Amino acid sequence: MNLTLFGPPGSGKGTQARFLTQHYGIPQVSTGDLFRAEIKQDTAIGRTAKDYLDRGDLVPDDMTLELVQRRLLKPDTWRGVLFDGFPRTVPQAEELDRMLASMGRHMKRVIFLQVPSEMLVNRLAGRLTCPKDGRTYHPQLNPPKKDMVCDVDGTPLIMREDDRPETARRRIGVYLEQTLPVLAHYRQQHLVADVDGTGTIDEVRTRILRAIEDRRGDGHDQPQD
Ligand code: AP5
Ligand code: MG
Repeated sequence: MNLTLFGPPGSGKGTQARFLTQHYGIPQVSTGDLFRAEIKQDTAIGRTAKDYLDRGDLVPDDMTLELVQRRLLKPDTWRGVLFDGFPRTVPQAEELDRMLASMGRHMKRVIFLQVPSEMLVNRLAGRLTCPKDGRTYHPQLNPPKKDMVCDVDGTPLIMREDDRPETARRRIGVYLEQTLPVLAHYRQQHLVADVDGTGTIDEVRTRILRAIEDRRGDGHDQPQD
């Protein structure tokens, strides 16, 4: 089962991906995490991508698609994946359709996490990230059990460079301009489930599970299997 978590920076894609990958037994494919791993390993892609991430701009489509294609060839993705932060442009969405079709796969649902802009800035400004496993926390909204260390592996938490207010605002602007049009692509295919991304993390999780499982539509576009 292939799913996409779609939404602006700070809408909770990474947070919710943790539950969903466990629930459905499929891996998370976060292009942001893939780029951060390339940067850490100082690969050719990582060196080029770094400037884009630092500015809050999107990395060019060809490079992004190359990473995703490479990831989808790994056997752990064959039962399906949970995309997080991908696709982010209409050409990426069109190419993903082609890629999945050529592998005999298809997208089941696109979960659109809706969160107002002022809430996004607050979430991003306080976000703490585990550099080892990518888990995110927030001192008030989602605090770690022990101050400033990851609950799972005890790694000291860091602030992401691109969460600085001016870069975070730029990322939100880029999302509105270049990524939001991707929704129309999936609405045409009746794959989008609009989910309220406000409220507690548990409340949002329950809404997402309902949206994925709800075969009757219940006010959403009908899923296509
Ligand atoms: P990426 O890493 O994908 O960042 P993003 O889309 O900007 O999204 P975030 O990771 O910032 O937010 P999130 O929705 O995961 O929120 P989270 O769950 O952490 O991309 C980074 C960069 O990589 C891009 O700018 C671009 O340069 C490049 N890139 C990536 N993909 C690309 C692509 N496809 N094409 C081209 N370039 C690409 O939550 C945020 C905070 O809120 C956390 O602190 C969390 O604890 C808290 N929180 C979560 N849910 C709740 C809740 N319900 N209530 C209260 N707090 C909550
Ligand atoms: Mg994320």
